[in-house]
Amino acid sequence: MLARGAKAAGALALLTMAGPALAAGGSADASHQWVPIAYLVAGVFFILALQGLSSPVSSRAGNLFGMAGMLIAVATTLVMLDVASLLEIGIAIAIGGVIGYVTAQRIPMTAMPQLVAAFHSLVGLAAVCVAAAAYMAPVPFGIIDPATGQIAVASRIEMGLGIAIGAITFSGSVIAFLKLNGNMSGKPIMLPMRHLINLGTLVAIIALIAWWAVDRTPDNWMFWTITALAFLIGFLLIIPIGGADMPVVVSMLNSYSGWAAAAMGFTLHNTAMIITGALVGASGAILSYIMCRAMNRSFISVIAGGFGGEDAGAAGGTAVDRPWKRGSAEDAAFLMKQAEQVIIVPGYGMAVAQAQHALREMADMLEEEGVTVKFAIHPVAGRMPGHMNVLLAEASVDYDKVFELEDINSEFARSDVAFVIGANDVTNPAAKTDKSSPIYGMPVLDVERAKTVLFVKRSMGGVGYAGVNNDVFYMDNTMMLLADAKKMVEDIVKAMH
Ligand code: TAP
Repeated sequence: MLARGAKAAGALALLTMAGPALAAGGSADASHQWVPIAYLVAGVFFILALQGLSSPVSSRAGNLFGMAGMLIAVATTLVMLDVASLLEIGIAIAIGGVIGYVTAQRIPMTAMPQLVAAFHSLVGLAAVCVAAAAYMAPVPFGIIDPATGQIAVASRIEMGLGIAIGAITFSGSVIAFLKLNGNMSGKPIMLPMRHLINLGTLVAIIALIAWWAVDRTPDNWMFWTITALAFLIGFLLIIPIGGADMPVVVSMLNSYSGWAAAAMGFTLHNTAMIITGALVGASGAILSYIMCRAMNRSFISVIAGGFGGEDAGAAGGTAVDRPWKRGSAEDAAFLMKQAEQVIIVPGYGMAVAQAQHALREMADMLEEEGVTVKFAIHPVAGRMPGHMNVLLAEASVDYDKVFELEDINSEFARSDVAFVIGANDVTNPAAKTDKSSPIYGMPVLDVERAKTVLFVKRSMGGVGYAGVNNDVFYMDNTMMLLADAKKMVEDIVKAMH
C-alpha cells in the first residue's frame, strides 16, 4: 500500500511538471515522439511492480521496478518536454525526497497505516492544486476550446471529477490519519441523519459538476463550491468510520487518489498520469475488496460506518465469569519442547509488542529440539494487508515456514500446540457458529483443534478489533499466558535454555 501511495504521489508530481509543459511544448513536436514510448515503458514497470508486491518473496524487486518506472516517467517529463524551470523542480524534488526518506526511515512498522494515510492526503491535495492551477490559468494547460473561448466541456468534466475526488481524498485521509494516530477518537462518530446529509452532498457535487460542464458562461462560484463540498464530504464520510476499519478506508482513499490522478491525466493529455492513476485506482479498489471479503464485511457496511462502536463491543459474552486456566512461561516451554509440531499464530498484539524477533528465536530453539514449527497467517491479522508477513520477514523467518489460512487450517487438528500470540478475532470460533457475532462468516484459523492452545495476551478483559470475547480462552485445552507478547516469548526462550 505504501508503495502504491508513493507511486500516486510521484505521479502527481509528474502531473504538475507535465501539464503546462505538454501544452507549451506540445507532444505533437517531432522531438517528443519518444515520450509516449517512454511512458509506456514506465507503465510496464509499474505493472511489474504491482506483480512483485503481491508476494513477500518478490516485494523488494517489485519496489525496485516501481522506482525504475517512476524514474523513467519523471526523467522523460523533465528531459523530453520543455519544462519551465528545472532548478525549481530540482529543489522541490530534493526537499520532498529528503522529507520522504527521513520519515520512512523513522516510522515504526505499527505506524505504517497512518503514514500511508498522511501520504494520501498529500496526493489528494496535489490533485486539487493542479486542478485549481489549470482552472485559474487554463491557457498554458492547452484546455481552452477555441470555438467558445472557455475551458473545453470534456476538460471541465475531468477537472470537476479530479478536484472532487482529490478533495475527498485529502480531507478523508486527514481524518483517517488523526484516528489512526490517536489524535482523534478511533470510535465511530455518528452524526444525526448522516446518510441523508452525505447523499445530499454527493448529489449536489455531481449536479454542480454537470452544470459547470454544460454552462456556456460558467461562474467561478461553481468550481469553488464543488471544491468546498468535496472537502466537506471527505470529512463527513470518514468521521463515522471506526479506527479499526481505517485500513480498508486508507486502501479506498488510495484508490480514489489514483482515480483523481487519472482524471487529471485526461485533462492534461498525459498518458503516464492516466496509466499510473488507473493502476493505483484499480489496485486500491481490489485491495479494499479483498480486505472486506477476508473480514466478511460488505464494502458498503464499511463505508456506512459505525463498526467498532458500542453495539459490537457488547457482543460475545463476558470475560470474567467463566473458568479458565493460566499458565507460565515455564509451562509453555515444557509443552512446546515435547511437541512434534507447533503452529504459531501471530496477530495485532505481536506487532504492538514487536515480539517477532523473540518469536523467531523461540522457533529456532524449538527446531533445534526437533520440533516442526510453522507460522499460520490470517489474511487480515494485524491492521494492514501483509502486516504479519512484513514483521516475520523483518525477523528473517523463512518464507517456506509461513502459510496462508487455507493452506494450514487442516493442520491444526494434527498439531500438538497452537501458539497464539496477540491474535484474537482471527482465531475466534464464534465466526463459525454465532450468527449474532459481528465477525460471523469471517474465515478463521481453527486453533482450538490443536491438542493444546497457548494463548498470549495481556489480560482476560482485553478484546481485539471487533470488540468481542473469544471462547477459545475458556476451553479445556487452552492455557492462557497473560503478559506482554515480547516479554512472554523472551521468558519462554529463557525457560528453554
Ligand atoms: P485482534 O483481534 O485485534 O486482537 C489483538 C489481540 O492482541 C488482543 O486480544 C489483545 O489483547 C492482544 N494484544 C494487544 N497488545 C498486546 C501486547 N502488547 N502483548 C500481547 N497481546 C497483546 O487482532 P487479530 O487477531 O490480528 O485480528 C485482526 C483484526 O483486525 C480482525 O478483526 C480484522 O478484521 C481487523 N482488521 C484487519 C485489517 C488488516 S488488513 N489486517 C484491516 C482492518 C481490520 P490484550 O489487550 O488483552 O492484550
